[in-house]
Amino acid sequence: MITLIELFAGIGTQYQAFKNNYEVKCIGISEIDPRPLKAYKALFGEPNNFGDITKIKELPKSDVWTYSFPCTDLSIAGKQEGFKGKHSSLIYEVYRLLCVSPKPKVLIMENVANICNTKFMPQFQDWIDTLTELGYTSTWQKIKANVYGGATIRERVYMISILDTDIKYNFPLAIHQDKVLQDFLEPVKSEYYIDEYYGPTPSITKNFFNSVKLCDYKNGGQGNRIYSPYGMGVTLTATGGGKAGSSGGLYYRENKIYKLSPIEMCKVMGWSKEQAQIICSVLTPREVGFCMGNAIDLTVLTKIVKGIKEQNIL
Ligand SMILES: C[S@@+](CC[C@H](N)C(=O)[O-])C[C@H]1O[C@@H](n2cnc3c(N)ncnc32)[C@H](O)[C@@H]1O
Repeated sequence: MITLIELFAGIGTQYQAFKNNYEVKCIGISEIDPRPLKAYKALFGEPNNFGDITKIKELPKSDVWTYSFPCTDLSIAGKQEGFKGKHSSLIYEVYRLLCVSPKPKVLIMENVANICNTKFMPQFQDWIDTLTELGYTSTWQKIKANVYGGATIRERVYMISILDTDIKYNFPLAIHQDKVLQDFLEPVKSEYYIDEYYGPTPSITKNFFNSVKLCDYKNGGQGNRIYSPYGMGVTLTATGGGKAGSSGGLYYRENKIYKLSPIEMCKVMGWSKEQAQIICSVLTPREVGFCMGNAIDLTVLTKIVKGIKEQNIL
């Protein structure tokens, strides 16, 4: 049995990704937002929540820590203050805790693709160097969810750091993607109907590599673009705008325009229908969108953790 601590736990995507691969016990989490915590409790039972990371004195011994720290200061939508920003600087709490606690064998980081752009790469490299000084060998990669079988083109950076070894984690090769957004959808429901469709008829040739924009809804803009369900889904966002809200985009379905339902948002982020129903039973539709827009794609993280197992790292 391996042990896990989820820092910035959200809804517990990390726990589920490990459960999909290992016999695992989550011995503690750090999370302060009641919305993801409601979903976490419904999925896994009451966690041992250490609460606000800035208040934690030290952590118990655990094989793995995950830290999908807030992206607010790194994302394109934010003020771009980087690792020094109020929210993203919480990454240094992970450093503080590593210095005062038994060090885990494996660290898993996730954040927005922007973390490795020209502006933030020097700060990200400093963080990697800091982990090296603590004894960790790190490998990172920018991954689009559909490359590992996810339903969307959500692009995120993942990093695996291993303690006291020369072995480097190898990110798994891309899978042969054989699904498009359509394959993750439920039958249409009138509640999610937006309007009649007036754009070009979409090609039914499936595009496994990208989302396929058909046209703008009214004046367009974020959340007001209409996509084909025969391509990949667009990225869900926590605070989405336009008619689509958190679902990121609108979709052509049966000659009409629809947004994703809360169940569909969970499914496109990798959760089974049964798990999606559990999540949706404790959150409002808006909360589901918020939590899914903030979450790691479960299909992607499951694949990454599978790589850890196959490479005998844990
Ligand atoms: C990017 S989200 C993580 C989502 C998670 N990986 C998932 O799949 O659901 C970052 C999380 O950090 C949490 N957070 C922000 N400040 C925190 C703090 N001071 N202590 C603990 N958690 C915090 C937020 O509430 C948010 O859920």
